Amino acid sequence: MAPLTQGLETGVPVIDAANDGLRFLLGRVFEPGVECRRGPGGKGDCTYQCCSRIEAILRYIGRNFAKQEQVMTEAAYPEAGRHGDDHASLVDRLTVMLRAEVCAEREGNRVHDLIAHWMNDHAKRCDTPFGRWAVTRRVLGRISDPPLIR
Ligand SMILES: [Fe+2]
Repeated sequence: MAPLTQGLETGVPVIDAANDGLRFLLGRVFEPGVECRRGPGGKGDCTYQCCSRIEAILRYIGRNFAKQEQVMTEAAYPEAGRHGDDHASLVDRLTVMLRAEVCAEREGNRVHDLIAHWMNDHAKRCDTPFGRWAVTRRVLGRISDPPLIR
């Protein structure tokens, strides 16, 4: 599996907490029995038509991307639209996998690596520049920091 990005803190709490949460989720969700209808022994009644692991990841990122986009909009970040488009690209790619009946049990590396590569690229191209902008503009104190992991 591709390594997950470490140590790319942006200084924006809402983003750093979301990325920490996504790393935690990816480190756990492929373990046997976690978020998988097939069950620990792989003998559950999964129809292989709508992977519950991919659905769980989509639920997590959906909530967190919406919150991050709200924060960028409230801060009047000029690149908010482009940043949001990059979030949408991951949602689109995972949704295509879900509809193509990809099983994250049988093809865990494929699902994991898609997200890991996206995270590495997104951190460099989108999250880090937003962090730098927020620090430079001193908007961090105005950015709300609600709990992200529910
Ligand atoms: Fe982002």
